[in-house]
Amino acid sequence: MCGRGGKGMKKTAIAPANIAFIKYWGKKNEELRIPANASISMNLLGAVTTTTVEFSSSYPKDTIELTDGSFSDGETRRITAHLDRIRQKAGIRDFARVVTKNSFPKSAGIASSASGFAALTLASAAAAGLSLPQKELTILARIGSGSACRSIPDGFVKWESGEKSEESYAHSLFPHDYWDIRDVLVVVDQTSKKISSSDGMKKAGTSPFWQERQRDIEKRIIQITKALEEKNFSEFGTILEDDCLSMHSVMMTQNPPLMYWNEATGNCIRNVQKWRKDGLPVFFTIDAGPNVHCICEGKDEKQLIDAIKTLSGVQSTLVNSCSQGAHITNTHLYQ
Ligand code: PMV
Repeated sequence: MCGRGGKGMKKTAIAPANIAFIKYWGKKNEELRIPANASISMNLLGAVTTTTVEFSSSYPKDTIELTDGSFSDGETRRITAHLDRIRQKAGIRDFARVVTKNSFPKSAGIASSASGFAALTLASAAAAGLSLPQKELTILARIGSGSACRSIPDGFVKWESGEKSEESYAHSLFPHDYWDIRDVLVVVDQTSKKISSSDGMKKAGTSPFWQERQRDIEKRIIQITKALEEKNFSEFGTILEDDCLSMHSVMMTQNPPLMYWNEATGNCIRNVQKWRKDGLPVFFTIDAGPNVHCICEGKDEKQLIDAIKTLSGVQSTLVNSCSQGAHITNTHLYQ
């Protein structure tokens, strides 16, 4: 165990990124990251973060390394604050060595904060000797970085909004092998976003569409859960696309407005609508950036990829199926 001049237990966790079908945009409580509404997502198999953590009384300070890049000062502060939460819960004071690796390039347009904070939560809790139920791990991950809580449970996941911290947790709706849904990410811009989701959503309430979004979202949650239960793809896709457009309407009309889309984003959206009209079942969703996630069933992936090849302005594509949630591995990133 940790402390008294010795090294602690080294623990490593792997956690996936996730794509939301019903989006999180706006909070009830800024400090605790309690969201304004519940959200629903799918874990992404090919976009994972691996993190190794060890607490030891021989470390003079926390060291935090990213194998394929470096963390900004702000990112380092957020990680250290998260380690403090774990230390406080475990009743230890040892500093930690944290090494992190992403399986996907920053330029892929997938935020690494969800997979990153999910892996950090799992690895650091285990390294501190804590044995926490999954619900509590999702609550801790949420306080680190909102949507990270959805990367802990298996497969298709719901994050309950809740009023209090202990009510705002994530749980699995269906396991990862329940339905062969694919996310074909169309990367049209590889630069990182100028305004982070955390900062952007602080102004969500200034949009005239905010109240309407909040009014409609509970209905969409019920409908999309039913579509998932029934594996009704056209209903599922229609609702996730509606929710994406609802979130972006809020973004574009908040004060100051957030315009994440570029020309290639618009072109991709119009083509998804056209392909659908021509008989290819595909729908789109977009996060806080210009890249387009095209959602289809496994049987249609090849045809979709061929169609995407005809688009202009595409820099790369990344195909993901549904994945299990965060888990511990015995393969560490350092010895
Ligand atoms: O958890 P954050 O701060 O990365 O916010 C995520 C916000 C969106 O990606 C736009 C929507 C979502 O639910 O993932």
